Amino acid sequence: MQNLYSTKDSLLSREDKEKLLNQKGICIWLTGLSGSGKTTIANYVSRQLHDNGVYTQVLDGDNIRLGINKNLSFSDQDRQENIRRIAEVTKLFVEAGVVTFCCFVSPTQKMRALAKNVIGENDFFEVFVSTNLETCEIRDVKGLYKRARKGEIKDFTGVSSSFECPVNPDLVLDTENKSINEIGETLISVLLNKLK
Ligand code: ADX
Repeated sequence: MQNLYSTKDSLLSREDKEKLLNQKGICIWLTGLSGSGKTTIANYVSRQLHDNGVYTQVLDGDNIRLGINKNLSFSDQDRQENIRRIAEVTKLFVEAGVVTFCCFVSPTQKMRALAKNVIGENDFFEVFVSTNLETCEIRDVKGLYKRARKGEIKDFTGVSSSFECPVNPDLVLDTENKSINEIGETLISVLLNKLK
């Protein structure tokens, strides 16, 4: 890019910030169907960590798509752009030392690979929230599955748009017949040694 200069050299370093916070920045990327429990898990774990002195941030599809990405649809191309922008924003959080939870359907291998590539392999921890379609549809927390089945929402993941399961995620969380405490503790125990 012409006429643009990185100011990185004059900025406080990531290490300076991590030292101040006494933690390491990382992205915990939760992928899964709408209603699978991504945001619920991230909010729970974020609260637990916060209460134990860890500085966290949760980003999710609904808040990002009401703000920075409100001009994007759910076409394949726009989802890709959604994830690209989110990954760039997440990178800024991670480099500022923040433990950042990203809760996005991110339905394709390509989208998740893009996020990993932008954020950086060492700072990217992929969690597949594997709740199956039937369960998500029964839960239908936002009433979106019902509307998608009636044809009122196009390109709806799991109904009229596909979801590719991650091939080699760092962790799989199955929410079926498990309490949020149980699921949250599983994630926290894996994360703890990554944060210090
Ligand atoms: S992504 O595919 O681009 O990663 P994202 O996570 O940002 O999706 O947004 C998903 C959320 O948007 C869902 O949880 C749901 O509430 C809402 N939504 C609205 N329309 C759709 C759709 N066509 N497919 C999936 N989710 C949708």
